[in-house]
Amino acid sequence: MDTYLAVVAKREVREYTDRPVPEEILTKILQAGRAAGSSKNSQPWRFVVLKERQHRHDLADAMMAPRNLDRCAVAIAVVLLNERLRFDAGRVAQNMMVAAWGLGVGSCPNSVRPDQHDRMRQDLGVPAEAAIATIVTLGYPAPGQPRPRPKADPEKIVAKLNRLPLEELVHRERFSG
Ligand SMILES: Cc1cc2nc3c(=O)[nH]c(=O)nc-3n(C[C@H](O)[C@H](O)[C@H](O)COP(=O)(O)O)c2cc1C
Repeated sequence: MDTYLAVVAKREVREYTDRPVPEEILTKILQAGRAAGSSKNSQPWRFVVLKERQHRHDLADAMMAPRNLDRCAVAIAVVLLNERLRFDAGRVAQNMMVAAWGLGVGSCPNSVRPDQHDRMRQDLGVPAEAAIATIVTLGYPAPGQPRPRPKADPEKIVAKLNRLPLEELVHRERFSG
């Protein structure tokens, strides 16, 4: 899929079919995360792959949106070894989600509930000094969900985006009201 199309068309998918994500596709998604740049190439992230349905089910109530984790085909917890580098975690997660979209797989970033971080860390064996930046849920989109359309016209998608207009976002030379 064209890169620009993949980036502008990627929408969050929160309902998934039962179809598993093949291991080779999952590996590509993880490679896309691995490829992300980071401050001084410090790569301050680790990935915990959550493939076991029962494990995800048991953890789901620790999430802001339990259903996403409960119903996805697989999830990837992005662990940040240095909490100051949140920008880097965002790059990893977006890399993985855009790559997944290009491979036909839907995804959504998910927040752990603020009072559940310790529990989640303990369950996943994440050291106390590290943080779970997000849990990316993945799976093939259920009917009615946004889905990758490799032949779509990116300009039509951009024209309908539910985002602030560029005129409001972009300033030239100086930030001004
Ligand atoms: C830091 C962050 C945390 C998010 N947490 C959740 C979440 O817990 N559950 C969820 O369903 N979506 C979550 N989202 C997804 C946002 O709701 C979504 O990106 C936004 O509504 C735009 O969706 P769209 O691209 O499909 O239009 C999160 C997004 C970000 C950037």
